[in-house]
Amino acid sequence: MANNWSEDTLYVHAGQMRDWPQEVPTAPSIIPSTSYRSADPAVMDAILGGDAPGFTYARHGSPTVAAFTEAVRLLEKGAMAHAYASGMAALDAALYAIRLQAGDHLLVSQDLYGATLNLAEQLWGSAGVIMHALDVTDEEALQEALDRWHPRGVLLESISNPLLKIPDLPRLVEAAHQAGAQVIVDNTFATPALLNPLTWGADLVVHSATKYLGGHGDAMGGVVVGRAEYFDRLHQYAKLRGSVLSPFDAWLLHRGIKTLGLRLARQSANAAQLAAVLADRPEFQQVYYPGLPNHPSHAIAKALMGAKGYGAVVTVELPGGRPQVFSFLSRLRLIGSATTVGDVYTLCLYPRIASHRNQSPEMLRQMGITDGTVRIAVGIEAVDDLVQDILSALQP
Ligand SMILES: Cc1ncc(COP(=O)(O)O)c(C=O)c1O
Repeated sequence: MANNWSEDTLYVHAGQMRDWPQEVPTAPSIIPSTSYRSADPAVMDAILGGDAPGFTYARHGSPTVAAFTEAVRLLEKGAMAHAYASGMAALDAALYAIRLQAGDHLLVSQDLYGATLNLAEQLWGSAGVIMHALDVTDEEALQEALDRWHPRGVLLESISNPLLKIPDLPRLVEAAHQAGAQVIVDNTFATPALLNPLTWGADLVVHSATKYLGGHGDAMGGVVVGRAEYFDRLHQYAKLRGSVLSPFDAWLLHRGIKTLGLRLARQSANAAQLAAVLADRPEFQQVYYPGLPNHPSHAIAKALMGAKGYGAVVTVELPGGRPQVFSFLSRLRLIGSATTVGDVYTLCLYPRIASHRNQSPEMLRQMGITDGTVRIAVGIEAVDDLVQDILSALQP
Protein backbone atom coordinates (compact mmCIF):
# COMPACT_ATOMS: atom_id res chain seq x y z
CA MET A 1 0.00 0.00 0.00
CA ALA A 2 1.33 3.45 -0.90
CA ASN A 3 2.65 5.29 2.10
CA ASN A 4 1.37 8.73 1.17
CA TRP A 5 -2.19 8.45 2.48
CA SER A 6 -3.00 10.69 5.40
CA GLU A 7 -3.06 9.23 8.92
CA ASP A 8 -6.85 9.54 9.12
CA THR A 9 -7.11 7.33 6.03
CA LEU A 10 -4.49 4.87 7.22
CA TYR A 11 -6.34 4.12 10.47
CA VAL A 12 -9.20 2.72 8.42
CA HIS A 13 -7.37 1.09 5.49
CA ALA A 14 -3.86 0.19 6.64
CA GLY A 15 -3.07 -3.50 6.41
CA GLN A 16 -6.04 -4.22 4.21
CA MET A 17 -4.95 -3.22 0.73
CA ARG A 18 -3.79 -6.60 -0.46
CA ASP A 19 -3.19 -7.63 -4.04
CA TRP A 20 -6.16 -9.92 -4.33
CA PRO A 21 -7.50 -9.89 -7.87
CA GLN A 22 -11.19 -9.34 -7.14
CA GLU A 23 -13.96 -9.52 -4.56
CA VAL A 24 -11.78 -8.21 -1.77
CA PRO A 25 -13.71 -8.41 1.51
CA THR A 26 -14.52 -4.96 2.93
CA ALA A 27 -13.58 -6.01 6.46
CA PRO A 28 -10.43 -7.99 7.28
CA SER A 29 -10.98 -11.76 7.51
CA ILE A 30 -9.90 -14.12 10.25
CA ILE A 31 -7.86 -16.98 8.84
CA PRO A 32 -7.24 -19.29 11.79
CA SER A 33 -5.42 -22.06 9.90
CA THR A 34 -2.20 -23.17 11.57
CA SER A 35 -0.67 -24.44 8.32
CA TYR A 36 -0.74 -23.60 4.62
CA ARG A 37 -0.66 -26.12 1.76
CA SER A 38 1.61 -25.55 -1.20
CA ALA A 39 0.94 -27.36 -4.46
CA ASP A 40 4.53 -26.71 -5.50
CA PRO A 41 7.27 -27.80 -3.07
CA ALA A 42 9.64 -25.28 -4.69
CA VAL A 43 7.31 -22.50 -3.51
CA MET A 44 7.23 -23.91 0.02
CA ASP A 45 11.01 -24.18 -0.08
CA ALA A 46 11.30 -20.52 -1.11
CA ILE A 47 8.89 -19.35 1.61
CA LEU A 48 10.59 -21.41 4.34
CA GLY A 49 13.96 -20.16 3.16
CA GLY A 50 12.79 -16.54 3.40
CA ASP A 51 13.24 -16.04 -0.36
CA ALA A 52 9.55 -15.53 -1.17
CA PRO A 53 6.61 -14.03 0.71
CA GLY A 54 3.90 -16.41 1.89
CA PHE A 55 2.73 -18.59 4.72
CA THR A 56 3.61 -22.12 5.78
CA TYR A 57 2.98 -22.47 9.51
CA ALA A 58 1.27 -20.04 11.88
CA ARG A 59 4.22 -19.76 14.28
CA HIS A 60 6.18 -18.36 11.31
CA GLY A 61 3.37 -15.99 10.30
CA SER A 62 -0.26 -15.92 9.23
CA PRO A 63 -2.40 -13.61 7.07
CA THR A 64 -4.58 -12.07 9.79
CA VAL A 65 -1.57 -11.29 11.98
CA ALA A 66 0.31 -9.94 8.94
CA ALA A 67 -2.56 -7.55 8.12
CA PHE A 68 -2.63 -6.16 11.68
CA THR A 69 1.16 -5.91 11.82
CA GLU A 70 1.25 -4.02 8.53
CA ALA A 71 -1.29 -1.52 9.87
CA VAL A 72 0.89 -0.79 12.91
CA ARG A 73 4.01 -0.57 10.73
CA LEU A 74 2.39 2.05 8.50
CA LEU A 75 1.08 4.10 11.43
CA GLU A 76 4.45 4.01 13.24
CA LYS A 77 6.28 4.86 9.99
CA GLY A 78 8.72 1.93 10.21
CA ALA A 79 10.32 -0.22 7.52
CA MET A 80 9.28 -3.48 9.21
CA ALA A 81 7.16 -4.69 12.11
CA HIS A 82 6.65 -7.94 14.00
CA ALA A 83 3.75 -8.91 16.25
CA TYR A 84 3.76 -11.07 19.41
CA ALA A 85 1.34 -12.55 21.91
CA SER A 86 1.67 -9.64 24.35
CA GLY A 87 3.45 -6.36 25.00
CA MET A 88 5.86 -8.15 27.33
CA ALA A 89 6.84 -10.60 24.57
CA ALA A 90 7.35 -7.64 22.20
CA LEU A 91 9.65 -5.92 24.72
CA ASP A 92 11.63 -9.12 25.25
CA ALA A 93 11.94 -9.57 21.47
CA ALA A 94 13.13 -5.96 21.05
CA LEU A 95 15.88 -6.54 23.63
CA TYR A 96 16.88 -9.68 21.73
CA ALA A 97 16.82 -7.72 18.45
CA ILE A 98 19.41 -5.21 19.67
CA ARG A 99 21.73 -8.18 20.39
CA LEU A 100 21.76 -7.68 24.14
CA GLN A 101 24.06 -10.27 25.65
CA ALA A 102 25.98 -11.29 28.78
CA GLY A 103 28.26 -8.52 30.01
CA ASP A 104 26.28 -5.77 28.27
CA HIS A 105 24.91 -2.79 30.15
CA LEU A 106 21.32 -1.70 29.63
CA LEU A 107 20.03 1.71 30.71
CA VAL A 108 16.35 1.78 31.55
CA SER A 109 13.97 4.47 32.68
CA GLN A 110 13.27 4.06 36.39
CA ASP A 111 9.66 4.93 35.52
CA LEU A 112 9.12 1.89 33.28
CA TYR A 113 6.06 -0.31 33.72
CA GLY A 114 6.92 -2.58 36.67
CA ALA A 115 6.92 -5.85 34.70
CA THR A 116 9.26 -4.30 32.12
CA LEU A 117 11.69 -3.36 34.88
CA ASN A 118 11.47 -6.93 36.20
CA LEU A 119 12.02 -8.33 32.70
CA ALA A 120 15.20 -6.28 32.29
CA GLU A 121 16.49 -6.84 35.81
CA GLN A 122 15.48 -10.43 36.47
CA LEU A 123 15.30 -12.31 33.16
CA TRP A 124 18.00 -10.39 31.27
CA GLY A 125 19.92 -10.03 34.54
CA SER A 126 20.03 -13.82 34.88
CA ALA A 127 21.47 -13.92 31.36
CA GLY A 128 24.34 -11.68 32.47
CA VAL A 129 23.02 -8.27 31.41
CA ILE A 130 23.64 -5.43 33.85
CA MET A 131 20.71 -3.05 34.17
CA HIS A 132 20.90 0.53 35.43
CA ALA A 133 17.65 2.37 36.20
CA LEU A 134 17.60 6.16 36.12
CA ASP A 135 15.37 9.16 35.49
CA VAL A 136 15.79 9.54 31.71
CA THR A 137 14.31 13.04 31.82
CA ASP A 138 17.38 14.10 33.85
CA GLU A 139 19.74 14.86 30.96
CA GLU A 140 22.82 15.20 33.14
CA ALA A 141 22.25 11.85 34.86
CA LEU A 142 21.58 10.23 31.48
CA GLN A 143 24.78 11.60 29.93
CA GLU A 144 26.79 10.50 32.95
CA ALA A 145 25.36 6.96 32.74
CA LEU A 146 26.00 6.79 28.96
CA ASP A 147 29.62 7.88 29.45
CA ARG A 148 30.13 5.52 32.34
CA TRP A 149 28.48 2.30 31.13
CA HIS A 150 28.56 2.49 27.31
CA PRO A 151 25.29 0.56 27.23
CA ARG A 152 24.09 -1.62 24.37
CA GLY A 153 20.64 -0.09 24.69
CA VAL A 154 18.40 2.47 26.35
CA LEU A 155 14.83 1.40 27.10
CA LEU A 156 12.18 3.95 28.01
CA GLU A 157 8.50 4.85 27.62
CA SER A 158 7.40 7.87 25.57
CA ILE A 159 4.92 8.74 28.36
CA SER A 160 5.77 7.23 31.73
CA ASN A 161 3.34 5.53 34.04
CA PRO A 162 1.79 6.81 36.30
CA LEU A 163 3.36 10.30 36.58
CA LEU A 164 3.37 10.91 32.82
CA LYS A 165 6.93 12.12 32.42
CA ILE A 166 7.94 12.68 28.80
CA PRO A 167 11.62 12.54 27.82
CA ASP A 168 13.12 14.93 25.30
CA LEU A 169 13.30 12.19 22.66
CA PRO A 170 15.40 13.95 19.98
CA ARG A 171 18.08 14.93 22.51
CA LEU A 172 18.00 11.59 24.28
CA VAL A 173 18.35 9.67 21.02
CA GLU A 174 21.24 11.85 19.88
CA ALA A 175 23.10 11.37 23.18
CA ALA A 176 22.45 7.61 23.16
CA HIS A 177 23.60 7.19 19.55
CA GLN A 178 26.76 9.16 20.23
CA ALA A 179 27.51 6.69 23.01
CA GLY A 180 26.82 3.74 20.67
CA ALA A 181 23.52 2.73 22.30
CA GLN A 182 20.31 1.73 20.50
CA VAL A 183 17.08 3.28 21.74
CA ILE A 184 13.91 1.28 22.31
CA VAL A 185 10.79 3.34 23.01
CA ASP A 186 7.65 1.78 24.46
CA ASN A 187 5.03 3.98 22.79
CA THR A 188 2.02 2.28 24.38
CA PHE A 189 0.72 5.37 26.22
CA ALA A 190 1.24 7.89 23.40
CA THR A 191 0.32 5.67 20.43
CA PRO A 192 1.14 6.69 16.84
CA ALA A 193 -1.91 8.97 17.02
CA LEU A 194 0.11 11.37 19.22
CA LEU A 195 3.77 10.54 18.65
CA ASN A 196 6.02 8.60 16.25
CA PRO A 197 9.30 7.90 18.09
CA LEU A 198 10.96 6.52 14.93
CA THR A 199 10.68 9.96 13.33
CA TRP A 200 12.66 11.34 16.30
CA GLY A 201 15.43 8.81 15.67
CA ALA A 202 14.47 5.91 17.96
CA ASP A 203 15.72 2.53 16.73
CA LEU A 204 12.76 0.41 17.77
CA VAL A 205 9.22 1.20 18.91
CA VAL A 206 7.28 -1.28 21.04
CA HIS A 207 3.57 -1.44 21.81
CA SER A 208 1.41 -3.30 24.21
CA ALA A 209 -1.36 -3.53 21.60
CA THR A 210 -3.53 -4.77 24.47
CA LYS A 211 -4.00 -1.10 25.38
CA TYR A 212 -4.89 1.75 22.99
CA LEU A 213 -4.27 -0.04 19.68
CA GLY A 214 -6.98 -2.58 20.52
CA GLY A 215 -8.88 -0.09 22.63
CA HIS A 216 -11.72 -2.30 23.83
CA GLY A 217 -10.07 -4.46 26.48
CA ASP A 218 -10.76 -7.74 24.70
CA ALA A 219 -7.51 -8.75 22.99
CA MET A 220 -3.87 -9.10 23.99
CA GLY A 221 -0.88 -8.50 21.76
CA GLY A 222 2.39 -6.66 21.22
CA VAL A 223 4.26 -5.19 18.27
CA VAL A 224 7.83 -4.07 17.53
CA VAL A 225 8.44 -1.60 14.67
CA GLY A 226 11.72 -0.30 13.25
CA ARG A 227 14.34 -0.56 10.51
CA ALA A 228 14.56 -3.58 8.21
CA GLU A 229 17.83 -4.82 9.70
CA TYR A 230 16.04 -5.87 12.90
CA PHE A 231 13.52 -8.14 11.19
CA ASP A 232 15.46 -11.42 11.08
CA ARG A 233 16.09 -11.53 14.84
CA LEU A 234 12.52 -10.43 15.62
CA HIS A 235 11.22 -13.21 13.39
CA GLN A 236 13.61 -15.78 14.83
CA TYR A 237 12.46 -14.80 18.33
CA ALA A 238 8.81 -15.48 17.45
CA LYS A 239 9.61 -18.79 15.74
CA LEU A 240 11.80 -20.13 18.54
CA ARG A 241 10.13 -18.68 21.65
CA GLY A 242 6.70 -19.27 20.15
CA SER A 243 5.13 -16.13 21.57
CA VAL A 244 2.98 -15.56 18.50
CA LEU A 245 -0.12 -13.42 18.24
CA SER A 246 -3.27 -15.45 17.58
CA PRO A 247 -5.32 -14.65 14.45
CA PHE A 248 -8.42 -13.96 16.57
CA ASP A 249 -6.62 -11.40 18.73
CA ALA A 250 -4.94 -9.90 15.64
CA TRP A 251 -8.36 -9.50 14.03
CA LEU A 252 -9.76 -7.71 17.10
CA LEU A 253 -6.69 -5.49 17.41
CA HIS A 254 -6.82 -4.60 13.71
CA ARG A 255 -10.49 -3.72 14.08
CA GLY A 256 -9.59 -1.50 17.06
CA ILE A 257 -7.01 0.42 15.03
CA LYS A 258 -9.71 1.70 12.67
CA THR A 259 -10.96 4.02 15.44
CA LEU A 260 -7.58 4.72 17.08
CA GLY A 261 -7.40 8.30 15.76
CA LEU A 262 -10.97 9.08 16.80
CA ARG A 263 -10.58 7.46 20.21
CA LEU A 264 -7.30 9.16 21.06
CA ALA A 265 -8.62 12.57 20.01
CA ARG A 266 -11.68 12.13 22.21
CA GLN A 267 -9.80 10.51 25.11
CA SER A 268 -7.10 13.21 25.09
CA ALA A 269 -9.73 15.97 25.01
CA ASN A 270 -11.63 14.28 27.87
CA ALA A 271 -8.39 13.88 29.87
CA ALA A 272 -7.45 17.54 29.34
CA GLN A 273 -10.87 18.68 30.53
CA LEU A 274 -10.89 16.31 33.51
CA ALA A 275 -7.38 17.36 34.55
CA ALA A 276 -8.34 21.05 34.40
CA VAL A 277 -11.42 20.48 36.58
CA LEU A 278 -9.63 18.28 39.15
CA ALA A 279 -6.64 20.65 39.35
CA ASP A 280 -9.00 23.31 40.74
CA ARG A 281 -10.48 21.06 43.43
CA PRO A 282 -9.20 21.13 47.01
CA GLU A 283 -9.70 17.34 47.41
CA PHE A 284 -6.51 16.65 45.42
CA GLN A 285 -3.00 17.32 46.65
CA GLN A 286 -1.66 17.11 43.12
CA VAL A 287 -2.96 16.52 39.59
CA TYR A 288 -0.52 15.25 36.97
CA TYR A 289 -1.30 15.79 33.28
CA PRO A 290 1.29 16.77 30.63
CA GLY A 291 -1.19 19.25 29.17
CA LEU A 292 -1.24 21.26 32.42
CA PRO A 293 1.35 24.06 32.40
CA ASN A 294 2.66 23.02 35.84
CA HIS A 295 3.54 19.46 34.73
CA PRO A 296 7.36 19.07 34.61
CA SER A 297 7.17 17.68 31.05
CA HIS A 298 4.69 20.24 29.70
CA ALA A 299 7.15 22.07 27.45
CA ILE A 300 8.57 18.94 25.83
CA ALA A 301 5.09 17.39 25.57
CA LYS A 302 3.94 20.51 23.74
CA ALA A 303 6.91 20.37 21.38
CA LEU A 304 6.58 16.64 20.59
CA MET A 305 2.82 16.15 20.46
CA GLY A 306 0.95 19.22 21.67
CA ALA A 307 -1.06 19.77 18.50
CA LYS A 308 -2.44 16.23 18.66
CA GLY A 309 -3.15 16.05 22.39
CA TYR A 310 -1.39 15.19 25.62
CA GLY A 311 -2.60 11.64 26.11
CA ALA A 312 -5.49 10.02 27.90
CA VAL A 313 -4.13 9.45 31.41
CA VAL A 314 -4.55 11.77 34.39
CA THR A 315 -2.93 10.92 37.72
CA VAL A 316 -4.07 12.38 41.03
CA GLU A 317 -2.72 12.45 44.53
CA LEU A 318 -5.15 11.95 47.43
CA PRO A 319 -3.97 13.23 50.82
CA GLY A 320 -5.47 10.36 52.86
CA GLY A 321 -3.23 7.56 51.56
CA ARG A 322 -4.37 3.94 51.26
CA PRO A 323 -7.58 4.17 53.38
CA GLN A 324 -8.86 7.09 51.35
CA VAL A 325 -7.85 5.51 48.03
CA PHE A 326 -9.60 2.23 48.92
CA SER A 327 -12.74 4.12 49.96
CA PHE A 328 -12.61 6.24 46.77
CA LEU A 329 -12.16 3.24 44.47
CA SER A 330 -14.94 1.26 46.13
CA ARG A 331 -17.38 4.18 45.85
CA LEU A 332 -16.90 4.84 42.15
CA ARG A 333 -20.03 3.83 40.24
CA LEU A 334 -19.28 4.55 36.60
CA ILE A 335 -15.51 4.31 36.58
CA GLY A 336 -14.08 0.83 37.10
CA SER A 337 -11.04 -0.13 39.11
CA ALA A 338 -8.82 -2.29 36.88
CA THR A 339 -5.19 -2.89 36.01
CA THR A 340 -5.13 -1.63 32.45
CA VAL A 341 -5.29 1.52 30.31
CA GLY A 342 -6.37 2.31 26.78
CA ASP A 343 -9.94 1.08 26.80
CA VAL A 344 -12.98 3.07 25.74
CA TYR A 345 -14.12 2.90 29.39
CA THR A 346 -12.53 5.06 32.09
CA LEU A 347 -10.59 2.92 34.57
CA CYS A 348 -8.69 3.74 37.76
CA LEU A 349 -5.61 1.97 39.02
CA TYR A 350 -3.92 2.17 42.40
CA PRO A 351 -0.20 1.75 41.54
CA ARG A 352 0.79 0.77 45.10
CA ILE A 353 -1.16 -2.50 44.86
CA ALA A 354 -0.75 -3.10 41.13
CA SER A 355 1.89 -1.78 38.68
CA HIS A 356 4.24 -0.66 41.46
CA ARG A 357 3.39 -3.27 44.08
CA ASN A 358 6.90 -4.72 44.21
CA GLN A 359 8.90 -1.51 44.19
CA SER A 360 10.92 -0.71 47.30
CA PRO A 361 9.85 2.31 49.40
CA GLU A 362 13.14 3.94 48.38
CA MET A 363 12.44 3.47 44.67
CA LEU A 364 8.86 4.73 45.07
CA ARG A 365 10.15 7.85 46.81
CA GLN A 366 12.65 8.37 44.01
CA MET A 367 9.88 8.00 41.42
CA GLY A 368 7.45 10.29 43.30
CA ILE A 369 4.75 7.65 43.78
CA THR A 370 2.99 7.72 47.16
CA ASP A 371 0.23 5.85 48.98
CA GLY A 372 -2.20 8.46 47.62
CA THR A 373 -1.32 8.18 43.92
CA VAL A 374 -4.22 7.07 41.69
CA ARG A 375 -4.05 6.72 37.90
CA ILE A 376 -7.15 7.54 35.86
CA ALA A 377 -7.10 6.11 32.32
CA VAL A 378 -9.73 8.26 30.66
CA GLY A 379 -12.23 6.74 28.24
CA ILE A 380 -14.70 8.17 25.74
CA GLU A 381 -17.64 8.79 28.09
CA ALA A 382 -19.15 12.25 28.66
CA VAL A 383 -16.55 14.05 30.76
CA ASP A 384 -19.21 15.64 33.03
CA ASP A 385 -20.26 12.15 34.10
CA LEU A 386 -16.66 11.28 34.94
CA VAL A 387 -16.27 14.42 37.05
CA GLN A 388 -19.54 13.69 38.85
CA ASP A 389 -18.54 10.08 39.57
CA ILE A 390 -15.09 11.10 40.88
CA LEU A 391 -16.37 13.91 43.09
CA SER A 392 -19.21 11.89 44.57
CA ALA A 393 -16.86 8.99 45.35
CA LEU A 394 -14.80 11.46 47.41
CA GLN A 395 -17.72 12.73 49.51
CA PRO A 396 -17.34 11.84 53.18
C1 LIG B 1 3.59 0.74 29.05
C2 LIG B 1 3.37 -0.74 29.02
N1 LIG B 1 4.20 -1.51 28.30
C3 LIG B 1 4.05 -2.85 28.24
C4 LIG B 1 3.04 -3.49 28.94
C5 LIG B 1 2.90 -4.97 28.84
O1 LIG B 1 1.90 -5.28 27.92
P1 LIG B 1 1.06 -6.63 27.93
O2 LIG B 1 0.21 -6.62 29.16
O3 LIG B 1 0.30 -6.58 26.65
O4 LIG B 1 2.05 -7.76 27.96
C6 LIG B 1 2.14 -2.73 29.69
C7 LIG B 1 1.06 -3.40 30.43
O5 LIG B 1 0.36 -2.83 31.23
C8 LIG B 1 2.31 -1.32 29.75
O6 LIG B 1 1.50 -0.53 30.47
